[in-house]
Amino acid sequence: MKPPYTGISIADGISICDALNGLLADEFVLMTQTKFFHWTVEGPDFYSLHLLFDSQHAKLSELVDLVGEAVVQSGGTPVGTNSQIVELTQLKEYGAVTTSVAMISLLLENHEAIMRSVRSLLAEKSLEKAPEVCTLLEDLLADHSKMAWFLRASQS
Ligand SMILES: [Fe+2]
Repeated sequence: MKPPYTGISIADGISICDALNGLLADEFVLMTQTKFFHWTVEGPDFYSLHLLFDSQHAKLSELVDLVGEAVVQSGGTPVGTNSQIVELTQLKEYGAVTTSVAMISLLLENHEAIMRSVRSLLAEKSLEKAPEVCTLLEDLLADHSKMAWFLRASQS
């Protein structure tokens, strides 16, 4: 495929795609964690958390799609294998998380980690001429902020 000639230099395009792929790996991991907790959460708050995790999984699935498509639109290839995702993600593995309190706290921590990354990305020089990518990142930040709030407000 030819690189897109959209006014972004090849170097900036590569840098944008690398950054978006790191973010995509994190979104994939958080989406999977959230679905796993939807299935395995137990306790007196089971039903509300079961529903909350499912609705957050649906939103994260939309974000995965948007970030993956942004990589393609920027001339790159999105990460799409488990080994690539594991290699690129900065998020913590969930291992033996079994209580609803620990699930909420891990998900919250990971939303906050993604928000910090997105904020750093927005300050990258390579994005100066890519407002369409900045808009996507700003929307993403707002979505994570809302999901983080719901998790924070669910903490006991
Ligand atoms: Fe379900």
